[in-house]
Amino acid sequence: MNAPAAAPLAYQVTPSTDPGNAERRAAVLAGELGFGKHMTDHMVSIAWEAGRGWHDARVHAYGPLALDPAAAVLHYGQEIFEGIKAYRHADGSIWTFRPQANGERLQRSAARLALPKLPVDEFVESLRQLIALDHEWVPSAPETSLYFRPFMIATEAFLGVRAAQAASYHVIASPAGAYFAKGVAPVSIWLSRDYARAAKGGTGAAKCGGNYAASLLPQQEAYAQGCSQVLFLDPVEGKYLEELGGMNVFLVYADGRIVTPELSGSILEGITRSSILQLARDRGLKVEERKVSIDEWRDGAASGAITEAFACGTAAVITPIGEIKGDGFTIGDVNAPAGEVTMAIRKELTDIQYGRLPDRHGWLLRLR
Ligand code: PLP
Ligand code: COI
Repeated sequence: MNAPAAAPLAYQVTPSTDPGNAERRAAVLAGELGFGKHMTDHMVSIAWEAGRGWHDARVHAYGPLALDPAAAVLHYGQEIFEGIKAYRHADGSIWTFRPQANGERLQRSAARLALPKLPVDEFVESLRQLIALDHEWVPSAPETSLYFRPFMIATEAFLGVRAAQAASYHVIASPAGAYFAKGVAPVSIWLSRDYARAAKGGTGAAKCGGNYAASLLPQQEAYAQGCSQVLFLDPVEGKYLEELGGMNVFLVYADGRIVTPELSGSILEGITRSSILQLARDRGLKVEERKVSIDEWRDGAASGAITEAFACGTAAVITPIGEIKGDGFTIGDVNAPAGEVTMAIRKELTDIQYGRLPDRHGWLLRLR
């Protein structure tokens, strides 16, 4: 499945001719951005076929995909995606954050979902190609960015259950403000006991649509409980923290430790998570990646040993967790102020992303 592109792909660039683009963009960027509501004017598409590899790289007007109704993605969910942002710096330049890491994760997801691997350089190039036409969509207000959604689908029209012999890769983009309605205020999280997000040996470590489909019913349960996200426990014992529906989780201890669930095979290896581990080490915190039980959290919060908790991911950056609610119990208090360590790491990470602090780890790549 791993068809290497011998030479870099040559793009066919066809700008959108819609006369309403500039007006629509101005209206969107002047309004409340929220997350994922408005798409830019263009998209990237690259086709793949077994035996031929990646071909027909294009940037073209944003619009519907033509798919055969028998396309494998529509039946067996053979799909993967990524999430990565472009940040506008004060001088107007546009940068992205650790794109090689996203490109490598897309390759790991592809391997698990039996999809073709897009070379990492082509992943990065696809972001550049889209920014070349849609750079004016990168907002400049504080805490805003352009969220890229690269994704790959199995397009072969065949109802037999096997890895598809044809696929396509696309990138769309959406200007983004705060992921949660209340901005960076502490959120309430619902502990799902009845459902797991991913199974042992399943696809939890891949970024595939099916994982999110499985999280939607528990996510609805969370909303019904007045919570904005759901926390999943490990699928084997139902004791240890895994992650939220779309974010990793961290706990901060009074004795200077910062703890996050170890990569269990069923959680997604977040790029924000790995960056926070680095920033935490840099500031002299003792970092632990290990099993953390929900009982440890409850007892630690009660005794004062655990002082803060937060969720992290590209879309929501770092979001303080105010409280965690489950059947018959609540840990924490959603009205308590956001934790100091949480907000300090959040500030440092966003200062690096927005070019307000030196990029000492070489995480940024200029797109334009
Ligand atoms: N876990 C899940 C299930 C996610 O969807 C995400 C978001 O991408 C993350 C964790 C965080 O990953 P990253 O920091 O790379 O965005
Ligand atoms: C992200 O943070 O990029 C995510 O993918 C989370 C969610 C929007 C799926």
